[in-house]
Amino acid sequence: MKSTTSKVAAAAPMTRRIERPERRRWLAAAATLGVAPWLLGAAAASAAPSATARRRLGPFEVYPIGLGVQWHPGAGPQAVLDQYASSTTREQGIALIRRAVDLGVMLFDTAPFMSETLVGEALQGGLRERVVLCSKFGFDIDPATGQFRGGFNSRPDHIRQVVDAQLRRLRTDRIDLLYQHRVDPNVPIEDVAGTLKELARQGKVLHYGLSEPGLQTIRRAHKEYPVAVIESEYSMLYRGVEAQVLPLCEELGIGFVPWSPLGMGFLAGTINATSRFRSPDFRAAVPRFAPDALPANMALVELVKTWAARKNATPAQISLAWLTAQKPWIVPIPGTTNVAHLQENVASASVTFSAAELKELNAAVADIPIRGARLPPDVLAATGVEAPPKR
Ligand SMILES: NC(=O)c1ccc[n+]([C@@H]2O[C@H](COP(=O)([O-])OP(=O)(O)OC[C@H]3O[C@@H](n4cnc5c(N)ncnc54)[C@H](OP(=O)(O)O)[C@@H]3O)[C@@H](O)[C@H]2O)c1
Repeated sequence: MKSTTSKVAAAAPMTRRIERPERRRWLAAAATLGVAPWLLGAAAASAAPSATARRRLGPFEVYPIGLGVQWHPGAGPQAVLDQYASSTTREQGIALIRRAVDLGVMLFDTAPFMSETLVGEALQGGLRERVVLCSKFGFDIDPATGQFRGGFNSRPDHIRQVVDAQLRRLRTDRIDLLYQHRVDPNVPIEDVAGTLKELARQGKVLHYGLSEPGLQTIRRAHKEYPVAVIESEYSMLYRGVEAQVLPLCEELGIGFVPWSPLGMGFLAGTINATSRFRSPDFRAAVPRFAPDALPANMALVELVKTWAARKNATPAQISLAWLTAQKPWIVPIPGTTNVAHLQENVASASVTFSAAELKELNAAVADIPIRGARLPPDVLAATGVEAPPKR
């Protein structure tokens, strides 16, 4: 995104349902100009002043901090677990999602299976209309039972079945943003983008995104049907997207959502050099949290804590504000099961850095080498994958 685009983009309204004839004209004009269609809508709306706590994310205009809801069933019908060491109950999880809407959060990131059910229930009573609802497809999960059959499945028929089941779980008639999570090494991305285009025509999926795709796959998908958002890992702990992914998003007018924006809790200051993780805590398998890496990596937490004291903020707030300061079209989705943490994270939207502060902080972060890979080898192997060519 060039600077003029960013300015007009920040002033655009949240996505709206566009009537079919208008939508066709809009897509045709965008194709002629070679830009993402929502940038045209943004330009048309540039006269409207923007509220300060809003930012552009592809076709959306949302609160600068979203919420990640990626939960799993625990022991017992009420128990809910996150990927790490946190737990809650169905009732409290639903209350937390509703509280997030009350606090102004608009971007809700979820995934099959249980999380969608809880998000769908939480957003009843009119809240659905106030949010941008995002979910995912990509793994070979039985759409009816939730049984993981192993591997990936982005075949068009499967995507359609998944979406119909998701609409039922989410109790809605449309998913605002649906990510392919992860690239299927057996399905050309053109087939995936074409299927999403058809689902958009039917009004079932308004926009789509890709999670951890290869660079050429982004370009090919975008050419077939404009990609709205890329969701990949990004935080002070993992800056791999800065070299090529973010510049490509900027070039194509694609929004960016960092997952694990708090480094799986690390950047919130809740881990120390002697912390040890046990399965099912996902961090037990992550090399950068292993006993041989963690003590060295704590230098980053110390830096974040220093800045938290300097800016009268918490470590989590500094970490989230650092992300939103990188680009005006980045919206992090911290995950939490804790209402106090939710409030703290939401409030990070008011933490800002001057240009000089940001330069100083960026340089200090860059000076700290991070030891250990960001993901276990098998999970890492599914990132940055290029889809096979369309024959
Ligand atoms: N596309 C993908 O491949 C992908 C992969 C992973 C995650 N995601 C999405 O990204 C979202 C966020 O990522 P994530 O959950 O992996 O990691 P994260 O947001 O970096 O960290 C979550 C952890 O931080 C803790 N936390 C949150 N706010 C805190 C605060 N203010 N103070 C102290 N601790 C805090 C949480 O514990 P408490 O519950 O105790 O607050 C939780 O253990 C997920 O919910 C999911 O929607 C996507």
